[in-house]
This record gives sequence, C-alpha cells and structure tokens, in this order.
Amino acid sequence: MTTVETGSIVHADAARDARALDPVAALEEVAPIGRDDLRGGWSRHLLDDADLKMREWFFQTALRLGLGVESDRNANQWAVWSPEGATGPAVGTGSHLDSVPGGGPLDGPLGVVSSLAAVSRLIAEGHRPTRPIRVANFAEEEGARFGVPCLGSQLLCGELTAERVGALTDNSGTTAREVLSEAGFDPDAIGADPKCLADLAMYVELHVEQGRQLEPLGAPVGLATGILAHGRWRLTINGRGDHAGATELDSRHDPMLVAAATIQAARARALLADPSTKARATVGKLQVVPGGSNAIASEVRLWLDARAEHDADVRALVDGILTDARKAARGEGCEIELSEESFSTRVTFDSGLTDRLHEAIAPRAGIVPRIPTGAGHDAGILAAYIPTAMLFVRNPDGVSHSPHEGASDDDIRAGVDALTDALRALTAETS
Ligand code: GLV
Ligand code: MN
Ligand code: MN
Repeated sequence: MTTVETGSIVHADAARDARALDPVAALEEVAPIGRDDLRGGWSRHLLDDADLKMREWFFQTALRLGLGVESDRNANQWAVWSPEGATGPAVGTGSHLDSVPGGGPLDGPLGVVSSLAAVSRLIAEGHRPTRPIRVANFAEEEGARFGVPCLGSQLLCGELTAERVGALTDNSGTTAREVLSEAGFDPDAIGADPKCLADLAMYVELHVEQGRQLEPLGAPVGLATGILAHGRWRLTINGRGDHAGATELDSRHDPMLVAAATIQAARARALLADPSTKARATVGKLQVVPGGSNAIASEVRLWLDARAEHDADVRALVDGILTDARKAARGEGCEIELSEESFSTRVTFDSGLTDRLHEAIAPRAGIVPRIPTGAGHDAGILAAYIPTAMLFVRNPDGVSHSPHEGASDDDIRAGVDALTDALRALTAETS
C-alpha cells in the first residue's frame, strides 16, 4: 500500500495515461472493494481495509492521469491539476469514497470518479485552466465508523477539535486516535487547516441523487438548492438485565420497551410536525446489551437521526421525541443518557455559483432543475466558508444508503459531461 506523507505532493511521472477516464469503467474497477457479504452492498469505513484500498485506487488513478496527489493532515486526499498558467486558489471538486454499512455503489464514489473523469477530459481536450483544480476524497463523510458525519471536512474547517475526534470510538471500542496513528496520521495534528481551506476558491460536488425528484422531470442532472438541517443523537437506555423466563412482568426494567417507544415516537412526532417543515426522524441503529434471545436487556443504545427544514424545527422535533422517550423510561423504571453526536445547520448553496453552473451546463444537459435535498454532504460543511454548489445525477428509483441505489450508465456519463462543462467554465480565462 502506498503511503503518502501528509502535506507533500507526489507528482506523476511523464508516462501518464493521455486517455480520459471513463466513469462507468472506473466504478467497475472499484466495485470489488469492500463488498459486504453479510449485509449486501458495500461497507467502506474510515481507514479500514476497504477504505485503504479505495484510497490507494484514488492515489494510483490520479497519478495515472498525470495529477499530483497529497493527503492533508485530516486524512482527506487531494488530486491536484495545476498546469502552467493556473494560479491562485483552486476550484475544488470531488466527494467521498467511504460508505454507510451495506451501502450502494454511488454515494460518494460517483462524485470522486466523475471529478477525476472530468479533469481528465479537460486535460485530453487541451483546456488551459486559469486556476488549479483540486479533487477531494473527503474522509469519513458518512460517519459510519465514528458516528460523526463529514469528519474530514469538519476537521479541515475547524468545526471539530483533535481532542473530540481522537476520543471517538468505533463499535469495537477502538479510538479514532488509535486508528489515525496506525494509518500514519498524527492524531494531535488533526483539526483546522486554514492553508488547505485557503487553497480553495470554491467547491462543486457531484453526487448521486438521493430521493426521486429528477426522474419525473425527465432530467439527467440537477442542481442543489440546499440541505435540510439535521443531526444525530445517541440515547443510552439503562435497565436491569434478567432472565426472560423467570422474571415476573411487573418486576422488569426492560430498556427494549423504551427503545420501542422511542422508535414509534420518532415517526409519530415527525408526522405531527407541520408538513412545511419536512420533518423526518429515523432510528436505524441499535445495540442491545447483552443481546441474548432469552435475556432481558440491561442496556440499549439507540441512534436517532432527525432532519427538518430549519434548525429550530429539528430541535423541536427532537425535544418531542425525547419527551416521549423519557416518559416511557419513567414507566419502565429505566434511565436515559443523551449525547448529541452531531448537528448540521441548514445549508443554502451559493446562488451565484449555482447560476454560473446552470449557464455552463444547460446548453448540453437541457433542463437542469434546482432541487433541495435531505442528505448531508461535505459541500454542506464547506458552504459556510467558500462558495459551494452541488450537482445531482438522476437516480431512477430514488433509493440510497442501500445496495439498490443506482443511476444509468448514460446518466453517469451525462453527469461527467455536466461537471466537465462546469469546471471548464469556472477555470476559463474570464472566471
Ligand atoms: C449522509 O449521506 C447523510 O445524509 O447522512
Ligand atoms: Mn450518504
Ligand atoms: Mn455522500
């Protein structure tokens, strides 16, 4: 496995591949990496075997295309195209190569592969950019290993500290500090990286659509307007472990009942909210201790994901769910400990940059609708610091965070066409 000194760029040798990268072939190349036979789909989590292989693929592919590659101190990788004449802060593009547990093939490899493909097309057509282009592979966007999403971009922007991130643990109790050290990063050096941020003039992320808004509009690509406010909360529900057969019903303190009430409350409270707030709440992860079929659980850990139009709508939604959870806990003689793992405020993407993208893309793409999304992205983190926009590629069934996520080969290529047109315009003489 190639190791990259953080902060130092590795340059391609002269023998680069002059052909543009085909995004469909590139996705096929990475498809064997991180297949999850147990859950289906793909599992690639921060610096595990699969993630390391994806990083190696990124590194080698960037070199093959003639790009420089570096890893920043927050475990984000950057492929850099900075030919003669390209000066000043770069146009950033890219996405992430990690996945949710048992996720689909496109969230986020589509964005990384499409960015590399678009840059390789610009090189092949002889484009002379006025600014460098930096392609990002952001670390742990999904937060699947350490619970906090957009870990790499949040660290880069100074939204998370080395102290907090170093202490995060994965499901096996290993700390992020240990995992980063093991992979050759300095866990004390992670955190705000103003230089890396100053290298970016703007950021454009391409992503598979999550939801089904483009299909009925007959549009292969769309532009994002904004991201719902969202967050994650961990509830540790403590009860009393006991025998499933020998314990009378009236003397139980069963945290599973409290978990069940909380899950029901998540749906009920989201339904009760004003529909204009687009409230949604989900429990997708539980850990039951000890987890025996003939034992009353002693503890249940439950993760609540809540999203809505505005920050205050999310807060109100979560308050309501917690009120119901605490009531259920009192009734069962259990205790709840609460920890907010993350909160991402509502994002509105830069309308000026989005207009520029529309102008660049529409002549070839045709109708390019502007759509909101309920999914979080590194672009959403960067949006508070630099002009940021997003492009979505049609997802015919709308399914994501599932092995059934998809996009047609034609639409994947239309996405690369659009991103190429966008990057060309943003790095043209007049930009
Ligand atoms: C990331 O995809 C998220 O929205 O959780
Ligand atoms: Mn995702
Ligand atoms: Mn993603």
